[in-house]
Amino acid sequence: MKALILVGGLGTRLKPITDSIPKHLIPLGNRPLIFYVFDKIIDSGIKDIGLVVSPNNKSFFQDSLDHYDKGLNISIIIQEQPLGVAHAVSIAKDFLSDDSFLLYLGDNLFKDNLKVIVDDFKKGSPDASIVLKKVENPSSFGVAERDKSGQIIKVMEKPPNPPTDLAVVGIYCFSPIIHKAIGEIKPSTRGELEITDAIQYLLDENIVILSTELTGWWLDCGTFDDLLLGNQKVIKKIILDLKNQNIQFPYGSEIIVGENSKIIDSVIEGPAIIGENCLLQNSIIEKNTSIQSNSIVINSKLQNSILMGNVKIKNINLISDSIIGNHCNIESKKSHKGISKLILGNNSSKILD
Ligand code: G1P
Repeated sequence: MKALILVGGLGTRLKPITDSIPKHLIPLGNRPLIFYVFDKIIDSGIKDIGLVVSPNNKSFFQDSLDHYDKGLNISIIIQEQPLGVAHAVSIAKDFLSDDSFLLYLGDNLFKDNLKVIVDDFKKGSPDASIVLKKVENPSSFGVAERDKSGQIIKVMEKPPNPPTDLAVVGIYCFSPIIHKAIGEIKPSTRGELEITDAIQYLLDENIVILSTELTGWWLDCGTFDDLLLGNQKVIKKIILDLKNQNIQFPYGSEIIVGENSKIIDSVIEGPAIIGENCLLQNSIIEKNTSIQSNSIVINSKLQNSILMGNVKIKNINLISDSIIGNHCNIESKKSHKGISKLILGNNSSKILD
């Protein structure tokens, strides 16, 4: 079985960050989001991975793959235009050949074990399996309807009046029969070939679709709030994994500090992750904050934020719920008051009053 990961989207809801870095490479817990997707797929036992990227983002992904800490066998596939999930599957047909495959929308993070989902699909030998999660805003997603026995009877893309609260998660398993279904569907009103329509085509052909309902958390990281929430979940998980290995936390419970970082007259409240070669001086870092390597924070307070590498922050009263790109410089000449919520792309400079 192969895996196809889609990262071709433009991340328009995450501008200006996505003008300088693809959303799937935004660091959560100081590692690019996509690395957690790779981790899940490797743990599921799948080795052959296709990564569908946009032409503009190809080099970003190629560079970041060199930094992934485990072995990967990845083929990069270019999707010239973002014409939908089913379109991305159709252009990956040569890579997928006649194999069954896991389709993974690369901005989906979740807690449950992917191996269980993949193994159930293989054991059941069906043509398709989908993953569901109860949500409060189903009209933002694909939505599934089941009959009394739990069998999937209908799927629809972002219905204005959803018949259920069961969102379709961006994780699917398919046999090659999906290629025939994709060949039969037409673009939706948003101009995309929807994978939901291809699944509905299979249902109309009386093909059985397996389903699994997630029990743990699920995030579709399309907004800043989702990314900050993703950062929280990931930091928690990294710390839990270290605790399970009995690794000590010399800077205090749930605080990770990288090599050669200096913490001077500062307080860190965990869970938090500070990268290598950072300087924190006369500052307070509150929980759920991650700071990548080579960053400097002086006379400032940070809370629930993602700082990428080589950031400089000086004399800022409080930065909260913020995402700050690489090589940003934020300072205040006088002592700054108030709370700043900042979204800054790479290389931005901001002088606050
Ligand atoms: C896509 C799918 C949708 C699914 C969602 C999950 O939506 O079309 O059915 O629920 O991913 O992440 P999109 O992110 O393209 O709006």
